[in-house]
Amino acid sequence: MAQKNNIQLAIREYRPSDQRMVTDLFCDSIRENIYPAFFKSMSHSDHVGVALSISMAGYVLGGSSYFQALLFGAAWAGLIYFCCHEIYEGYMLRRLSTDMADIQANYLDNPNNGFWVAEAGDGDLSKVVGMVMVRGQRRVEEDEHHGNLNGGMGTGSSADGSGESGEMSHLVVAFPWRRRKLGSQLTQRALDFCKERGFARLILDVSSPQTGAMSLLQKSGFIQTSLHTNTHANRWISKLARIGVMRMEKFL
Ligand SMILES: CC(C)(COP(=O)(O)OP(=O)(O)OC[C@H]1O[C@@H](n2cnc3c(N)ncnc32)[C@H](O)[C@@H]1OP(=O)(O)O)[C@@H](O)C(=O)NCCC(=O)NCCS
Repeated sequence: MAQKNNIQLAIREYRPSDQRMVTDLFCDSIRENIYPAFFKSMSHSDHVGVALSISMAGYVLGGSSYFQALLFGAAWAGLIYFCCHEIYEGYMLRRLSTDMADIQANYLDNPNNGFWVAEAGDGDLSKVVGMVMVRGQRRVEEDEHHGNLNGGMGTGSSADGSGESGEMSHLVVAFPWRRRKLGSQLTQRALDFCKERGFARLILDVSSPQTGAMSLLQKSGFIQTSLHTNTHANRWISKLARIGVMRMEKFL
């Protein structure tokens, strides 16, 4: 248990009464990636080049119109923003309608899955300020050789609970509570759970705008084992958004 300005902080298992706060925290944490992803994507040399070419075309087609040059450039930026928005919003809606729709059944009722929250305060005044979840995952192939690095997005959890690795997601700390080691404690909780269950490793996917998470994971001993740009969204949307998905793993 930790303290911030005399406010008690504790990590405990999720309870059904946390549902609303957990959902709000999850949605905020996904949406906060949209602008960083957009700015990162727009500053890529390919996109800068396209934006300049399109603006130039607008200028020429508009008969030396600066307004049209601006309009064409803004249209390109709007398209990139739409792609970034689509990827994160789509991911969020998909999780809300699948595992997050019934946390009790999907996490707590399965002994190889877990869901924890960080709670600030005591009794009626307490609120959820952080969360993390782990799903036991069965490997399709035995990974006896460490060179066999996973290049895909891990989504399938073991139906019968006989997981061999844990997949962590929804690692979030509410903005005012960041940089106080809560994220590290939640990660440690997930690692301890995986050790208790005898899992060989803990994995998670991090998108390129999540630089704080990358830094935390590296500090906690995770290593990057793959990088790809595929998302659940349409191939062209993923290509235009240029969001990299890094798979991070820690062997236990
Ligand atoms: C990532 C996140 C959970 C970190 O939580 P946190 O409580 O601030 O993390 P900690 O205080 O334990 O940070 C531990 C270390 O990680 C690194 N770190 C954390 N946030 C960082 C940031 N924004 N920028 C750079 N490094 C950061 C630092 O090295 C930090 O140690 P230090 O404070 O001594 O320098 C939090 O920023 C968050 O909720 N982000 C949005 C959601 C997200 O990206 N989740 C990851 C999903 S995979």
